[in-house]
Amino acid sequence: MSVHSVVLIPGDGIGPEVAEAVRKVLTAADAPVSFVLRYAGEAALERGSEDVLPQETVDAIREHHVALKGPCSTPVGRGFSSVNVALRRKLNLYAAVRPFRSLAGVPTRYENVDLIVVRENTEGLYSGIENLITDGVVVSMKVATRAACRRIAHWAFRYATHKKREKISVFHKANIMKLSDGMLLDEARQVHEVDYPNIAYGEVIVDAGHMRLVQDPTQFDIILCENLYGDLVSDLCAGLVGGLGVSPGANIGDQDAVFEAVHGSAPDIAGQGVANPLALLMSATMMLNHLAETRHDPRASTAAARIKAAYDRALNDGQKTRDLGGQLSTTAFADAVIERLSP
Ligand code: NAI
Repeated sequence: MSVHSVVLIPGDGIGPEVAEAVRKVLTAADAPVSFVLRYAGEAALERGSEDVLPQETVDAIREHHVALKGPCSTPVGRGFSSVNVALRRKLNLYAAVRPFRSLAGVPTRYENVDLIVVRENTEGLYSGIENLITDGVVVSMKVATRAACRRIAHWAFRYATHKKREKISVFHKANIMKLSDGMLLDEARQVHEVDYPNIAYGEVIVDAGHMRLVQDPTQFDIILCENLYGDLVSDLCAGLVGGLGVSPGANIGDQDAVFEAVHGSAPDIAGQGVANPLALLMSATMMLNHLAETRHDPRASTAAARIKAAYDRALNDGQKTRDLGGQLSTTAFADAVIERLSP
């Protein structure tokens, strides 16, 4: 069987540093992938593109269906809309899935965190519809469509079933946004009652949900929310398991999937070689498992399992980057993982 071509978008800031580290580990682990390099964000502008999301990058993902993406920055105040929002919308990557799990060797306030955030990725306030009504008055529109609410609810319950998870809690603010958040609740309730009665279902007002997460994250399993709440709760959950350096994610649609860490381009540490590549590496293992499932290729899940075992061993041996209290550089951590790959 040949290898799978996947698009690699190194991104901006720490993106190229962590992407290179991940590429090294995947190669050492004999992951059955070859990378097709494309650019987005400021890196695309630097290479002469007029847009932060060049058409050839979108076309490459449409052709190969899978991408691993580093974080991208969108220059502020130059008329560009967010590269990440645009990519998710153009490819209809409507489900963002972000697992947050405690890692042995990364001590945090809680030991048994095992949460998954499923976020609607295409509408809400991220639709970016803002109007200057009159001087000093701006209206930002939160878009909710029944079709998108139903689609993400179905996706979340299907995913919960597939992953053998027990409960979905919808984080919402339907007490204030009765129509928009209310519609997500209506749809989620119906999907639960009609199609997935065996998966437990709960509704939690988003602000109280944040408080309860901080008090005891083990009371939640899958958290389903609209776009903005999903963005916010993701960083909170990242904080529960060791931070943005250990928080992976995926953006999934019916045709394509883009795997990327939760973190951004971290301009404060870019170019110093100290960023933690683990979040992107964990996203890459999610990508390998996705390839294993969708293309029926056991080599991909074997590589993912070897990489996971190796980074677990590295962390247990105290091999950590600065964000986790260690001393290792980005490349030294990648080397520590490679040294621990099982034969
Ligand atoms: P950020 O995630 O880049 O940084 C927040 C803090 O976490 C910083 O102190 C940073 O040093 C630290 N951090 C992040 N990733 C790290 C890693 N792998 N290892 C060690 N430390 C890490 O968030 P911020 O500063 O809000 O955004 C910076 C830029 O990134 C913005 O232009 C934003 O639009 C973009 N961004 C892009 C995303 C994407 O492409 N998916 C997601 C989030 C932000």
